[in-house]
Amino acid sequence: MQSIHYLLIGALGVVIFFFACNSPEGKTNQQTSGADTLDKQWWKEAVVYQIYPRSFQDSDGDGIGDLKGIISKLDYVKSLGIDMVWLNPIYASPNKDNGYDISDYQNIMKEFGTMEDFDILLKGMHDRGIKVFMDLVVNHCSDQHKWFQSARSSRNSPYYNYFHWWPAEKGKPPYRWGIFDEKGDAWEYNKATNSYYLHYFADAQPDLNWENPQLRQEIYKMMRFWLDKGIDGFRLDAIAFISKDTTFPPLPAEYNGQWGLYYASGPHLHDYMQEMNREVLSKYNVATVAEAMGDVERVMKFVDPARKELTMAYYFEAIDFGYLPNEYKMPDPKGYDFLQWKKIYAKWTDAFAQKGWGTIYLANHDQPRMLTRWGNDSPEFRNVSSKMLTTFILSMRGTAFYYFGDEIGMSNIKFDRVDDYNDIELLTNYAQVKAKGGDLKRFLEGMKISSRDNGRTPMQWNNSPNGGFTTGTPWLKVNPNYATVNVAAQEEDPQSILNYFRQMIQLRKSEPVLIYGDWKLVDADNPDVFAYTRSLNGKTLLILLNFKATEATLNTGLNLNGAKALIGNYPNPSTDGKLRPYEAVILDL
Ligand code: GLC
Repeated sequence: MQSIHYLLIGALGVVIFFFACNSPEGKTNQQTSGADTLDKQWWKEAVVYQIYPRSFQDSDGDGIGDLKGIISKLDYVKSLGIDMVWLNPIYASPNKDNGYDISDYQNIMKEFGTMEDFDILLKGMHDRGIKVFMDLVVNHCSDQHKWFQSARSSRNSPYYNYFHWWPAEKGKPPYRWGIFDEKGDAWEYNKATNSYYLHYFADAQPDLNWENPQLRQEIYKMMRFWLDKGIDGFRLDAIAFISKDTTFPPLPAEYNGQWGLYYASGPHLHDYMQEMNREVLSKYNVATVAEAMGDVERVMKFVDPARKELTMAYYFEAIDFGYLPNEYKMPDPKGYDFLQWKKIYAKWTDAFAQKGWGTIYLANHDQPRMLTRWGNDSPEFRNVSSKMLTTFILSMRGTAFYYFGDEIGMSNIKFDRVDDYNDIELLTNYAQVKAKGGDLKRFLEGMKISSRDNGRTPMQWNNSPNGGFTTGTPWLKVNPNYATVNVAAQEEDPQSILNYFRQMIQLRKSEPVLIYGDWKLVDADNPDVFAYTRSLNGKTLLILLNFKATEATLNTGLNLNGAKALIGNYPNPSTDGKLRPYEAVILDL
């Protein structure tokens, strides 16, 4: 009797184990099975290189990067081995938010050049086998756009309903948070119409009214204009905010101050994404990436293939990690909880293994430099920690997005004075801290780590004045370390960060396991090392990344005898599970 009892319990255990492993909820957040998603797509295999045109290369000495500048660097871009370039907005713009305030969607920003330059640039990319992503900024436009100029002149303008208005005869509008507004108020009074217009960002960025079908058709027409030129995809800026409850009820208490999430909860958001897919995107072989917001469930809605919306999404949980709560990007002086950070990646990687497709990035134009934020920019560790972060981006599961300048280990400029900054986000927040009598010195110290301008300083090409970026006065100071940290110096050095980036890309291209392979976190509780395996068709790679400036030991539980190092950031990579500071190694088991 006793033994039957145990047998029954044992059998039940096996059944529970079987279901636990096979139901989506049952999978641990540390194991990712890609077996059901071996749906091969070019955009899953791509390495995307992001160019911030304002800061890449100036061709005419006005201190501002431009399209001709990018054209002059196409062979360099090709030499990296990347597959796709994402260009931040290049459309006509008064530049209140550096191109994210568009005054004409079908023209090029004067400082950047002409449409002819764009056509040459696109052809130059395509001739080299490089695809091009454009930024699609359609939650809002510029207050200088002709639609808004007309709309603000009269309630009878045919464009009045292209925007959101609150008539003043109804009293003050219900509070909405303005992200780049000094008063924090997203409504701005307009005298000619005696009404308030809505702007989630700056008052120079009025929100477009997506509830108006005519506006949506205008946007789709504009998207076709660019797609018919042959571009290969869009990065959809602030796309989660496009739909609004136009009764403008009081902000719901359950969002508890998280107004960004409320903005991302518009009633028709996904109806519009599906309409955009039906009417435009489905007609072209293009990739799309959503600047999505919130948790897995929300983000997944954009990329679940069954829903027919977009192809890829970013998420913010990992990149925004380690800031103090209720403060504007103020780094926690205690550092960040590394174990928790690994778990965040595990959770999202696991989710995208079930369906959809994610992206991996450690920096972009809205972030500081990855080396300063996630690595170590001291002279001693700049080199190894840059390479370690590069190994991370190019060995995770998800399309890799790599920010220009990170391939040479550019670091934060860490301005001391507010006058050196250009970014509307920083200047708005500075003004708010000041108005409240807050600690401005502390604010500026925090910004040395987190501000967006750290990631926007010009590209460092060589050791000539201004790093070879411009012969004029650069729009934002060049990091003085250009004298030693620059492309020309690194081209000469086979061990440079730049050449490591190229090797790592070649490795990713030659090992499909790094793209489609299952992903599994190893030694999850290791306080220093991010370790994981990628496996596909019987091949297993073990990726070991020491995120600390001290030596680390692993407990992988794996047999490392005979393991072969495919790449590493030290000469003689470790193969025994002991890692030097910031050591990165990929082992073939
Ligand atoms: C996105 C962009 C950011 C911009 C904002 C408003 O978050 O990435 O640079 O400031 O949208 O358009």
